[in-house]
Parts: sequence; structure tokens; C-alpha cells
Amino acid sequence: MSSFSEDYQTIVLDVGACSTKVGYSDIDTDDPEPQAVVPTLVGVPINPDIPVMGCKSYFVGDEARKIRGSLKLTRPIRNGIIHDWDAFEEILQCAFMNELRANPAESSILMADKMFSPRKQRERICEMMFEQFDVQGYFVALQSLLPMFDNEVNRETALIVDIGHDITEITPVHEGFVLVHQARRTGISGRSVDEKLAQLLTETTISSRGDNLHRRLLSDTLNDLELVREVKEGCCHVALDCQEKRLEYEVDTVVETFQLPDGSEILLDEECFRAPEVLFDPSIIGSTAVGLSQLIYDTIMSCPIETRRSLYQNIVLVGGTSTMNGLPERIEQDLSALAPESIHIDLGIADNADTVTWTGGSCLASSVQFGSSLLSRDHYDEYGSGIIHSKFYFDDKPYSKSLFS
Ligand SMILES: Nc1ncnc2c1ncn2[C@@H]1O[C@H](COP(=O)(O)OP(=O)(O)OP(=O)(O)O)[C@@H](O)[C@H]1O
Ligand SMILES: [Mg+2]
Repeated sequence: MSSFSEDYQTIVLDVGACSTKVGYSDIDTDDPEPQAVVPTLVGVPINPDIPVMGCKSYFVGDEARKIRGSLKLTRPIRNGIIHDWDAFEEILQCAFMNELRANPAESSILMADKMFSPRKQRERICEMMFEQFDVQGYFVALQSLLPMFDNEVNRETALIVDIGHDITEITPVHEGFVLVHQARRTGISGRSVDEKLAQLLTETTISSRGDNLHRRLLSDTLNDLELVREVKEGCCHVALDCQEKRLEYEVDTVVETFQLPDGSEILLDEECFRAPEVLFDPSIIGSTAVGLSQLIYDTIMSCPIETRRSLYQNIVLVGGTSTMNGLPERIEQDLSALAPESIHIDLGIADNADTVTWTGGSCLASSVQFGSSLLSRDHYDEYGSGIIHSKFYFDDKPYSKSLFS
């Protein structure tokens, strides 16, 4: 008799606030990559009386991003909470049908899920998978455990620091077990940098920097923030010492140029490293949250004493924001100052840090036992979506890497 996983291919999904990573898990490659990364964005025409591309009334993902000038954009997920379920379903439709050209009814799904997602949300996603997409099997994996299965990361002990768009999650994993009560989460992440950069750019004197962007940033709509996100990705970097770098810039101003979609250019100087500083000092946006380096240190120090040394030696940065230039070096420098002198810190960033959660999920879904771990349609019909809490260990049992592999 063939196993379930041999009958159906598994689609791996990591739906983030900024982007949705999707693709088939591929057992034949050591180096899997998501087939598509879809912006988690939807848009409706600003003026319904003026027809937009194809006279459609709703745009999703890349299409919405491309013609964003004519649309009012929204993100269905905010801080890990799905606010617009119709838009969320549209994103999945787009990911499955348009990008993968897949029939979900002939597939099973591995869904990456955040540590602190609400129970009801987990159940509703499961119902959507079986009721709307008619999938054959469903599996929910703790997002912060997934990078541990990636071939490059592959380890039993790590401090996974996932710095995404809306949320940063810090998860200690010791000898395969997630230290759930020590895991931390903060809203200081990529979007915080965008908001600070938008503020700095609107404050900048119009004459010296070209008034184009300034004029476009007078409102803080998502359309504007999308543009700022692109400026950030093209120009921003983290300074080892922000104050010192500001003094250097006063003497010898270095200017970065960014080309706007309309062809005009804006110039940036110290905004490039002042905006990312919010990650380390959230008080500059009026937040009482703890900065990233301090939070990593606090997390390790809250773990049992016998685990701390190995956690310091296995810090793994993942998530799109961790790819910002200078960020790993800054965290390592700050931690060296905070940690006891005798501690050796080893901090790494995966080559594919922005998609490593997906690739870890793909490796997990390719494992021999995976098929038997799925929630099958029969079981879903019998027990309903509430079964996921005990089946995928959201309740009281400890998460362990060895559960699945
Ligand atoms: N080169 C770069 N420099 C700076 N930031 C970057 C770069 N590349 C990506 N980012 C940022 O990474 C963030 C997206 O990361 P990621 O895809 O991990 O988030 P997400 O999974 O969609 O969100 P979340 O996990 O918070 O729900 C965005 O804020 C994006 O601007
Ligand atoms: Mg994410």
C-alpha cells in the first residue's frame, strides 16, 4: 500500500504580513526554494468609476503592487492577526492557482504558523483548507522550528531570531525541544524601520532632496509605505555605532541615490542608518519595547543556566529584515558587550534567510514520516478543526524537533 505522502504532493506555505512564500516540497533536491513569493497585498481601485487594468475590481499580490498608483492597498494580516479573511483567501487562491498552477484538492498542505497565533485563527485556517480548498491533508508547523530542518541550518540546538515585517520572534530550541515559556515576541521589525524612514524623509528639507517623494509622503497610506519599503531595501543599513556615524556624516556626507518608479531620483544620507536604529532603540519612535540585541540577551538569560552557553553559540538569524546590511554584525557586537566575557558568541545568518522557514518546511515535508503525521480529511470530518491543537502540539505537550523527523 502506498503512503499518503506518495499519493499527494505537499504544498508548503509561509504566509507573512509582507510576503507569502509558496511551493511544492521537492524530495528530489537538496536545495529547495519556494516557487513563488507573493506580496501579501490586495488592492481595490481608488476611483471605482475609472477602469483599471482589465476593468477588475480587485487586485492581488504582484498585480496589486504593480499598479498600486491606481489602488487603495491593504494587508490582510497585521501583527500576526488575520483581519480580512476574504483577502486572505484571495492571497491563497493567487498563490495556489496563479503562481503554482496547482489543484489544492490534489495536494496536502504544510502551513507555517507563529508561536503566538490565536487558537480560533488556527482553526479557521484549517477549516478554510478543507472546506474552501478541499485539500487532502493538513499539517501545522511551528514557524520558528522550521529553519532547524533546513539543510544548511540543520541542528538540534539554536536560538532562532526571526525578524520579519510585522513581528520579531525569538525562540530558544535546546536539544530538539522548544523552550516555549522563554520564547519572546516583539512588534519591532521591518515595518518599524519603514515608519521611521517615512518620518525622516518627510522631515527632510524639500529643496535639498527633491520634493517628489516628500510630496508623496504627506499621508501615511500603505501605498506610501510600500514605496518607503523599497527605498529601505535599496539603501538602508545598520551602523555599528549610530552616533559616531552621524558625526562622520557631518564631516563627509555620503549620499545614496534611489530612483523612484516615475524615473525621478531622491537623495538620502543619514536616513539610511538612522531609520534602522529603531530596531535597537525603539524609544526613538516613542515605543517602550526593548531593542533587538537586549531582547536576545534577555531571552537567553531567562533560559535554564545549563542551556545558555550552547544558545549563545547557535544564534541563527532568519526573516527578511535580518538580511539588512550590517545587522548581524551589530547584534554580535552588542551581545559581546552584554554577555559575560567568558562566553563565545556564534551568530549566523542563513544564505536564504528570507525564505529559510519555507525551505525548512519543504525538508520536513519530504521526510519519510511526514505523510503519517498529517491531519487527513477523514479525521477532519470526524473531529473538526479543534483537533489541530492536540495533534500539532499547541496545547500542553512540548514541541520537539524529533516529533516530525
Ligand atoms: N535587503 C533588505 N534590507 C532591509 N529590509 C529588507 C530587505 N529585504 C527584505 N527586507 C524586509 O523584510 C521584511 C519582510 O521579511 P519577511 O518576508 O521575513 O516578513 P513576513 O514573513 O512577510 O512578515 P512576518 O513574519 O512579520 O509576518 C520587510 O519589511 C522587507 O522590507
Ligand atoms: Mg515571516
